[in-house]
Amino acid sequence: MREAGPRVANARAVMASRVAPKGDGDYYATPPWATRALCVDVLGIGERRAWSVWEPACGAGHMAVPLAEYFGQVLASDLYDRGFGLTGPEWDFLRPLPEADAAPCGHDWIITNPPYGDLPQRFVERAFELAPRVGIAVFVQLRWLETIQRGRELFLPRPPHVIGIFCDRVPLVRGGWDPEASTATAYCWVVWRLDGAAPRPPVWIAPGAPQRHSRLGDLALARSVTPATDAGPLFEEAGDA
Ligand SMILES: C[S@@+](CC[C@H](N)C(=O)[O-])C[C@H]1O[C@@H](n2cnc3c(N)ncnc32)[C@H](O)[C@@H]1O
Repeated sequence: MREAGPRVANARAVMASRVAPKGDGDYYATPPWATRALCVDVLGIGERRAWSVWEPACGAGHMAVPLAEYFGQVLASDLYDRGFGLTGPEWDFLRPLPEADAAPCGHDWIITNPPYGDLPQRFVERAFELAPRVGIAVFVQLRWLETIQRGRELFLPRPPHVIGIFCDRVPLVRGGWDPEASTATAYCWVVWRLDGAAPRPPVWIAPGAPQRHSRLGDLALARSVTPATDAGPLFEEAGDA
């Protein structure tokens, strides 16, 4: 298997938006290099920090594992069990919060690639309710920044601290991580700070992020790939994700 790269001959092209499959929680693993790009290129973390981070939709750990290289403590959880982290109904990030649970979560950061549809906004709103001490970061499609509704309900009332835009494409496929996949979809990181840090201009994550931020050890995480072609019609060209 090759080191992760942005384009490989005969790779599958994943078009525009994802159709949420039923019953698996909309599982697409984030290539580990995309999380290192957040830590290094967007958040500017050099040395590992004492910060704690909660990855509340961890899947099989493709984001939680690289987060552990930069954060002192990582809590990984998911509603669905993929053999990683804490799982089950009590880890449903969107479950109604009993009053006793309405206190701040006690983590410095909440960072995730949430399930799609209307769920990223609900994840961000829940993350705000859980009030991490420092910030929130979500990996989303670039076009998620659009729409009147999200503008009114999310971005205007809560302007992000910084947005990190990938110059490279970040290929995601259903069911795992395929380092040989390609994509036509653009992704970005949206970061909010709750500690009063001043807003920053957008950051363009320079071309070559897959090469800069891939590690040979990442390939161990590529094993759980379910070929998208075996799983029926997964993608459509347009839509409002
Ligand atoms: C797009 S995948 C991302 C997986 C992982 N964060 C990554 O980046 O590799 C979305 C994840 O959200 C999980 N999920 C869906 N609904 C959830 C919920 N209500 N609470 C917690 N996790 C949920 C799914 O099981 C899936 O693992």
